[in-house]
Amino acid sequence: MDTPTLQTPRLRLEPVALKHAPHLQPLFADPEVLRYLSAQIPQPYPAEGMQWFLEHDLLPRVDSGASVAWVLVLRETGTPVGLLVWRRHQSDEGDRGFWLGRPYWGQGLMTEAITAFQDHVFFEVGLERMELRSGIHNHGSSRLKEKTGCVKIGEAEGKMREGSIVGVWEITRARWSALRRPAPSHEKQR
Ligand SMILES: CC(C)(COP(=O)(O)OP(=O)(O)OC[C@H]1O[C@@H](n2cnc3c(N)ncnc32)[C@H](O)[C@@H]1OP(=O)(O)O)[C@@H](O)C(=O)NCCC(=O)NCCS
Repeated sequence: MDTPTLQTPRLRLEPVALKHAPHLQPLFADPEVLRYLSAQIPQPYPAEGMQWFLEHDLLPRVDSGASVAWVLVLRETGTPVGLLVWRRHQSDEGDRGFWLGRPYWGQGLMTEAITAFQDHVFFEVGLERMELRSGIHNHGSSRLKEKTGCVKIGEAEGKMREGSIVGVWEITRARWSALRRPAPSHEKQR
């Protein structure tokens, strides 16, 4: 499956490529970014870690069709600022993973990226449902999920850097449609 480029008001979501590694490396090798992610990610993060991850892990998964991966690029400056991965087969990590470099937090950028991503998977690809996971202490990720139509459906064991419990969340096309395309007011009143 080809990775389409997606646009938001401030971001371009481009297919990830090896050329992005030097830009993503310093943003990802930040203990605050790694704090709520999988305990399997080494910390301190190795100097060539992102290059290795893209070349030997993520891009092969993209090539095989198992994952779709976008780098988040600021439209104004062309700066790569984060990553968003959709795992198309069920995994213990959930169907989606994302991170943004710390200088870019708190500006609504990931909300924009997730909005474009969910429009794509639900309205273009035609997916019915996704199951997502994140550490229960990751309040930013939980809030982002609530804001973008996800509902917590339980908890499970997980190997996160911070704790061993993850929240299990779901988002359905029906729920996303209702958020994005609310029924006209005359229909709501019926
Ligand atoms: C989680 C993360 C992607 C959020 O990105 P962001 O662009 O800063 O998020 P947004 O600005 O779109 O914020 C979305 C909502 O979450 C809230 N939020 C963001 N970070 C928060 C935090 N640390 N604690 C509590 N709420 C937070 C925002 O206030 C906003 O809610 P509001 O509109 O009600 O105010 C970013 O902090 C990050 O990359 N963290 C490290 C990696 C990570 O945890 N990835 C997720 C793994 S599941």
